[in-house]
Amino acid sequence: MHYDFDTIIERRNTQSFKWDLAETLVGEKDVLPLWVADMDFQCPPAVIEAIQRRAGHGIYGYTAVPDSCYQAIINWMKKRHGWNIEKEWIVLTPGVVSGFHWAVRAYTHPGDSVIVQTPVYYPFFKAVKFNGCQMVENQLKFSNGQYEIDFDDLARKFDSRTKVLLLCSPHNPVGRVWTRPELARLANLCLEHNVVLCSDEIHADLIFRGYRHTPTAMISDEIAAKTITCAAANKTFNIAGLQTGFVIISDPVLRDAFVNTKQNLGISSMSNIFGVEAMEAAYSGGEEWLEQLLDYLQNNLEFLLEFVNTRIPKIKVIKPEGTYLVWLDCRALGLEGDHLKQFMLKKAKVWLNNGAEFGSGGAGFQRLNLACPRSILAEALQRIEQAVKTL
Ligand SMILES: Cc1ncc(COP(=O)(O)O)c(C=O)c1O
Repeated sequence: MHYDFDTIIERRNTQSFKWDLAETLVGEKDVLPLWVADMDFQCPPAVIEAIQRRAGHGIYGYTAVPDSCYQAIINWMKKRHGWNIEKEWIVLTPGVVSGFHWAVRAYTHPGDSVIVQTPVYYPFFKAVKFNGCQMVENQLKFSNGQYEIDFDDLARKFDSRTKVLLLCSPHNPVGRVWTRPELARLANLCLEHNVVLCSDEIHADLIFRGYRHTPTAMISDEIAAKTITCAAANKTFNIAGLQTGFVIISDPVLRDAFVNTKQNLGISSMSNIFGVEAMEAAYSGGEEWLEQLLDYLQNNLEFLLEFVNTRIPKIKVIKPEGTYLVWLDCRALGLEGDHLKQFMLKKAKVWLNNGAEFGSGGAGFQRLNLACPRSILAEALQRIEQAVKTL
């Protein structure tokens, strides 16, 4: 079956964060939104059918998570990532953000410190702060147009108060798909310092040609015993609004601590019925759709690279290896502080994510979401091109 990613589906007036909140959040109307990480594509037909079938029953009482849902997760991890996991290791969450929030809560005490690698997905900062911890930044190194982990700096950042490292793998916003040796080196430092490695792998299935995602916990049994993996079908299949995710924790002690934290927050072992249905349907029947999506995203990326390199050469694209987010180096435009954000919104009339929000190393950059029909992407790039000409 051929899936259509080109047709524009109207999202305005659907209470969409991406499309309906411009005036509220950035005080602008008529901006083209390529910011928050969801896609302007319908999810796989298998998901839509599963939700319609369940909705048609009309009774939505307290419902257990079926074994078939766990099995769908297990099969997916095995097939897509070569990772063997067990049902007991999986704990459902309302999403990846709650997964890493609860992880910080479970494995730290107020006053402990948590390492993050900036620039990074900014909800990491709240997970540290709201749990009363200190954030320690291990800023990524940017050299020759690509990002690397600064291992010398990282080694210096561990001390007796360090309890958790929050890893983003693949990395949002810089788009790196960390290699196995990079992950092994980072994880071994965590082992050496007895630090829990919380690996946010929500973008694991969104990998561009030529790259491969390695689940951190697959590197060795020793590393697995110190790792908690936060995952979801949310990004892969565009179902984030269904608020369902899971963590994978093979170590029983770490898992008990996580489950206790979840229970102490008053969250039951149940999940949202529709989220569970959608996740199972996506993992069981969405693979062909995903393959076609990945081709479409690859072509969008190539279109963007060609456009920006030839027509807006002052902006440098940091070519992503994974995710559908593109990190744009706009420093040569010479716009300081808030001016770059305002320039994109008011002059170009596009709504991107402002780099400074991702923490140190982010100022002067913008994050663009290319998971949209190519015609929308083209329109956004033309708007930016025209605006840059006025500078
Ligand atoms: C790295 C990362 N983690 C988590 C999330 C959100 O996860 P969820 O919607 O499952 O809470 C996002 C969404 O953009 C993300 O990029």
